[in-house]
Amino acid sequence: MDLTSTLPPMIDLSRKKDGTNDTETFAADVAEGLGTSPKSLPSRYFYDATGSRLFQEIMALPEYYLTRCEFEVLQGNRQEIARHFFAADSFFHLIDLGAGDALKTKILLRELALQQNAFDYVPVDISGDAMRQLSDSLQQEMPSVDVQAVVGEYFKALEWLQEHKPERKIVLFLGSNIGNFKNDESISFLKSIRSNLSPGDKLLMGVDLRKDPDTILSAYNDASGVTAAFNMNLLRRINTELGGDFDLAEFMHYPIYNPHEGVMRSFIVSKKAQDVHIQATGQTFHFDAWEAIHTENSHKYSLKQIEELGNTCGFRIETVFQDTECRFADVLFTVD
Ligand code: AVI
Repeated sequence: MDLTSTLPPMIDLSRKKDGTNDTETFAADVAEGLGTSPKSLPSRYFYDATGSRLFQEIMALPEYYLTRCEFEVLQGNRQEIARHFFAADSFFHLIDLGAGDALKTKILLRELALQQNAFDYVPVDISGDAMRQLSDSLQQEMPSVDVQAVVGEYFKALEWLQEHKPERKIVLFLGSNIGNFKNDESISFLKSIRSNLSPGDKLLMGVDLRKDPDTILSAYNDASGVTAAFNMNLLRRINTELGGDFDLAEFMHYPIYNPHEGVMRSFIVSKKAQDVHIQATGQTFHFDAWEAIHTENSHKYSLKQIEELGNTCGFRIETVFQDTECRFADVLFTVD
């Protein structure tokens, strides 16, 4: 059945105001990252169609405990979480930052949907395809839930929050996505969210907790090589979209966990001295033997750090939900 015409209209905030297109921005970011020492590439470019498919595979890997743990947390605490959301007994918007296929959020939505018309659901994601599929699947699975999908990056979601400032809001930021920000970026992002919320509003944030460093390292260095393919997909994208001539066999995935900082860092390392030309930028980039490109940070937190981060940004912890092995936490913050 084609439901396209009956789906609620989506708000598309993904268009660029400066007139550049996605490929130009990608080329500029690659030129900047590879032209600076030490070299780096922004992790947001992992998520083209191939990268998104690989990330789905990562989430099902035996080593990648994060997704399974968060499922356990949400499944086991869904009724209590719903009670916290409904505590104020008034209508709210449920804003889901980086919703994707919303598989985890659907655990909560099923619970919340038992209370009809008490909320609407606002998934936000950079992928228009993902938002179309989600609106479609929700219309079939939970027709009573009002869905208003927003297509755009996280920062665009802030515009939506601002436009709805006086209305009651609960923000979901699941999956330890906060961990991919640098420390100063996570503070400014959470402060921006906070500035668009009012007393009584809430934030439910998924965070990966500090644990045995070997467990963390394995999650980013799986035996089947899916995470390696996910990381190397950045070079494949540069080749196909920007006319690069990276020889993927001459580069390797190299993740390393720093237990002092609690940061998992992923690199792509050049196995030999080599030059790579990228047509779209018209530049040739030199790699020394064993020179690395930093591609991602995934922060791991103690609960004390999360409390401090929340307090710094104007949030107070209401409740912490954890899995039985205390590997992952969904922290419910409130605004006083
Ligand atoms: C999306 N993000 C929370 C994942 C993480 O764990 O940092 C991305 C990822 N990178 C490698 N594996 C998974």
